[in-house]
Amino acid sequence: MNALDLFRLEGARALVTGASRGIGRAVAEGLADAGCDLAVTARTLPALDATVRAVEERGRKAVALDGDLAEPGVAAALVDRAAAALGGLDVVVHNAGTLPTAEDGSALLVPLQHAEQRDWETVISINLNATAAVCRASHPHLLESDRASLVLMSSIAGIVGTPMMEAYAATKAAQLSLARSLAVGWARQGIRVNALCPGWTRTDMTAFASEAGPLSDWLTGHVPMGRWATADEVVGATLFLASPAASFVTGHALVVDGGLAVPDGGLAGHPKPPSPFAAA
Ligand SMILES: NC(=O)c1ccc[n+]([C@@H]2O[C@H](COP(=O)([O-])OP(=O)(O)OC[C@H]3O[C@@H](n4cnc5c(N)ncnc54)[C@H](OP(=O)(O)O)[C@@H]3O)[C@@H](O)[C@H]2O)c1
Repeated sequence: MNALDLFRLEGARALVTGASRGIGRAVAEGLADAGCDLAVTARTLPALDATVRAVEERGRKAVALDGDLAEPGVAAALVDRAAAALGGLDVVVHNAGTLPTAEDGSALLVPLQHAEQRDWETVISINLNATAAVCRASHPHLLESDRASLVLMSSIAGIVGTPMMEAYAATKAAQLSLARSLAVGWARQGIRVNALCPGWTRTDMTAFASEAGPLSDWLTGHVPMGRWATADEVVGATLFLASPAASFVTGHALVVDGGLAVPDGGLAGHPKPPSPFAAA
């Protein structure tokens, strides 16, 4: 056997939520490279055009599905529509997620004591309630697969303290807990469940920070590797968890963070700019 074949997913049927851009789109393309046919989701179909084209250029089938995960019932419906379109599901990467956002769509960075309860609830509903619904709806489909893998796109924010984004961080920590509980519960049903924790990754979601000098410097100042990740740097770890290369890996939280979560990575002595939030 060639060890590289362990990363192949020839003919596997994969769902990637939140695949219109950023990490989700990169993951969808990576899974297509590995041989998957794909169902990809976002709130609107036009947003998925580029992803569908990229998957089809790789010779794989791509089905675009639209739905807003903030709406009750949509997450489960997306899973069932994906399974119907692909004839079942072997791999589910639940990647869609959001930061708290202001009415104009910009990121809302407010410490918990000043945040509105409705902002908390919006983030919980998209990042956590929809995650539970995706997992629940995926279960019967994954049960039918002999290579079932569910990957939850959590975050380093679920591991390290993340001021100004408490709701987001809490949902990402909850995804880690859910991955562990489901991994244990479903292990003897042949379904592996893992979580992936990217560190600060340059995407549309983080443009407000990566394109703002002092904020970007502060964030990367705490990353031993001293820089932002690209979305492509999350693909290999996702493919590993999704593929037979990880056939004995379940309940794991795989960190892809340039060293950010190393306990007291600060001992490296790299200079850290002062927090722009010091007075908040
Ligand atoms: N970027 C980072 O630094 C980072 C770090 C760790 C973890 N993560 C996690 O990685 C995942 C992807 O992040 P990203 O940075 O790639 O984000 P992004 O560029 O903002 O992409 C988010 C994706 O989720 C979809 N989405 C957002 N809200 C949705 C909703 N209400 N209903 C349905 N789909 C929705 C978006 O689709 P639309 O086209 O509908 O907007 C888009 O495809 C998220 O779960 C995030 O928490 C990101």
